[in-house]
Amino acid sequence: MTDEAVTTGVPYLSLQEEFQSLQQAWFGRIQEIGSGGAFILGPNVRAFEQEAAEYVGTQYAVAVANGTDALVLSLRAMDIGPGDEVITSPFTFFATAEAISIVGATPVFADIDEASFNIDPVSVEALINDKTKAILPVHIFGNPADMSAIRALAAAHDLRVIEDAAQAFGAKQGDAVVGSMGDAGCFSFYPTKVLGCYGDGGLITTSDEALRDRLHKLRNHGATAPFTHDELGYNSRLDEVQAALLRLKLEKLEQDVAARIRVAGWYDERLAHLDLTTPVRPQNGRHAFNLYTIRHPRRDALRALLNEHKVGNSQCYPLGLHLQSIYAGLGYQPGDLPVVDRLCGETLSLPIFPAMTEAQVDQVCKCVAAV
Ligand SMILES: Cc1ncc(COP(=O)(O)O)c(C=O)c1O
Repeated sequence: MTDEAVTTGVPYLSLQEEFQSLQQAWFGRIQEIGSGGAFILGPNVRAFEQEAAEYVGTQYAVAVANGTDALVLSLRAMDIGPGDEVITSPFTFFATAEAISIVGATPVFADIDEASFNIDPVSVEALINDKTKAILPVHIFGNPADMSAIRALAAAHDLRVIEDAAQAFGAKQGDAVVGSMGDAGCFSFYPTKVLGCYGDGGLITTSDEALRDRLHKLRNHGATAPFTHDELGYNSRLDEVQAALLRLKLEKLEQDVAARIRVAGWYDERLAHLDLTTPVRPQNGRHAFNLYTIRHPRRDALRALLNEHKVGNSQCYPLGLHLQSIYAGLGYQPGDLPVVDRLCGETLSLPIFPAMTEAQVDQVCKCVAAV
């Protein structure tokens, strides 16, 4: 390692370059918003919903306050609650299972596929019973889950499908964009996401009109008309300042995904000969590379070296959700979902962001090669 690498390091994520390039246009839109006086669920939100639905390929999109709410409101809109089971992946951020628990339903955890790190349809099938109401696959790290198999299972057992596409805006299976392959697609616009805003934001995509109407109601306190409420809802609305930014970023989303794929390609070339693997990508489709995650047999040693050299990294994910203390009552034990357990001990996410340079990838890969 060079001295320069030690002193400068590589950030896990940098949004500085993007902010510099967008600030003038965004600030201009904020001035218009200020003059117009509509700050929440205004014209930018409506336009963004339409543009995002067009991009994803659904009839409708409903903007909400964050990705967790997108999941919670989708489950509520499908009347999923106490006594119901929802099958999901435990190899994900906590919000996926948390949303199921928040509506009072029970998360049932399937094992994942060792090759793709995504939910394993064979494991899902074995868990379906009379209480099962939905399957909730996660397109983990931006890599699309096997939606054909999941849709076939859902059709055979009359189940709803909610895609957790929080990390995967712009990912595709065949020509289908994620978020268009289930009954509802849930996105997060947390700043680190492929399409992220500079605050919190979320979106649900759907082609089901009744679902859209229910989501409109739920995001606004269950109101059927001003000051008229027939159920409990949420305050889960997107504001105009974030929607204006999201519209600007959606215009250049293809460029951003292409930049992420280019960075992933630099990693692929440099890491190909090493003792590690990366999740298998769709043969006919597109990984959006929200994260570039590797599986390394000496993950902890690698992590220590990266930290020493100030190279950003993240342990996604250190513990399967089935083994989190909050779910102790569900009775899962280590070894019940062996693939998840193995991957949690060996995976590490490396820096990736659209403005990352080949020299930065070189720096990271020198560390990886040294372990
Ligand atoms: C897979 C997954 N699901 C759900 C969420 C929740 O999104 P948010 O942080 O916008 O609530 C996130 C992101 O944080 C996520 O990565």
